[in-house]
Amino acid sequence: MSRPADFQRIKTGLSEFIVSDFANAILAGGDSLVLLKSIPSHSVSLILTDPPYHSTKKDNIFGDTLFSSDKEFLEWISRYIEEWKRILKPNGSILCFCASEMAARIEVAFSESFNVLSQIVWTKPNEPGFDGWKQKMKKEALRQWYAHSERIIFAEPAMHGNLHRSYFGNVLKTARQQAGLTMKELTEITGEYGRVNHGGAVSNWEAGRNTPSRDQYAKIYDALLNTGKVSCLPTFEDAIRPFAMDSSKEFTDVWTFPSVRPYRGKHPAEKPLVMLEHIIEATTFPGDIVLDCFAGSGSTAAATLRLGRRAVAVEIEPQWIAHISSRLEIFTQVAICPTAAMTYSLKNSETASLTFD
Ligand SMILES: C[S@@+](CC[C@H](N)C(=O)[O-])C[C@H]1O[C@@H](n2cnc3c(N)ncnc32)[C@H](O)[C@@H]1O
Repeated sequence: MSRPADFQRIKTGLSEFIVSDFANAILAGGDSLVLLKSIPSHSVSLILTDPPYHSTKKDNIFGDTLFSSDKEFLEWISRYIEEWKRILKPNGSILCFCASEMAARIEVAFSESFNVLSQIVWTKPNEPGFDGWKQKMKKEALRQWYAHSERIIFAEPAMHGNLHRSYFGNVLKTARQQAGLTMKELTEITGEYGRVNHGGAVSNWEAGRNTPSRDQYAKIYDALLNTGKVSCLPTFEDAIRPFAMDSSKEFTDVWTFPSVRPYRGKHPAEKPLVMLEHIIEATTFPGDIVLDCFAGSGSTAAATLRLGRRAVAVEIEPQWIAHISSRLEIFTQVAICPTAAMTYSLKNSETASLTFD
């Protein structure tokens, strides 16, 4: 199904909860655990979300002091994980923020139905004076190393609970066998030889060790359909889990993005826009749908729109619902680009400048 059609289905499902409805973004108000049930299965490409941490016990964040025990909190998160698996497209991704104290147990909960690909350590190289307790506290009073990082769990929906088994690997293997081709024959047809053995590229793709480029996928697509034994294959955007990375970007799992400096009206847990953009750019195609179930200041939705994707934001607190609504209005003119040929340039202002090739 196309992204615009998926977006329309989500709008229809959430219609009774929608507070603001923009061309490429919707904001729904209420308890996201309840609202998620109205989002159609396999309709979202990226879930980028930041639940209450529970361990930080901030009474100015709804949900942070709600749970009487870690067990109760983890049971609540597990109910989300079940819904997230249902909602995500099989080639989708999830990135979930959490506190370092809870990360290991949340990761275990994820591993029931997701392949956990990275646990990112986000540390904040802030200037003195904007460093929380780090500079001010008495170091001699510490009884453990000072926790100066947050974690982000990055995962994909699991196929058979196997880290290396990708959705695309399964699609390719099934179609190739249906076409009656061996790995070697498909390699010959596409001309995509591995460096080491003759079955090379195809066997690596099927094993999930890597994925084909758009051009390589076009060759596979034609080769399989031309056998006359395979009637349809997903498009590149529906087959491959996007992960766009290069050496000019932060490609390791240790990140150093400064936190958002205090300003009047700042959300107590507001995440830096540039970090959210880094995530969205790497893990989605232009036009994809990005869901945030704990929208807070609306930064995920703002980053999503700046990059020409479609945003679905859910928030429970009326104060933040109103904030997101007015924040997103400035993005209503940002166009959605249906191809990967879009380039963008970031500006200091909130609005993005988009050009299309
Ligand atoms: C950690 S903050 C998210 C901050 C956000 N990432 C940002 O950059 O501004 C969590 C947010 O989730 C909201 N929230 C808590 N429980 C919720 C629920 N059940 N449904 C929807 N929103 C919820 C809180 O009101 C809070 O704004």
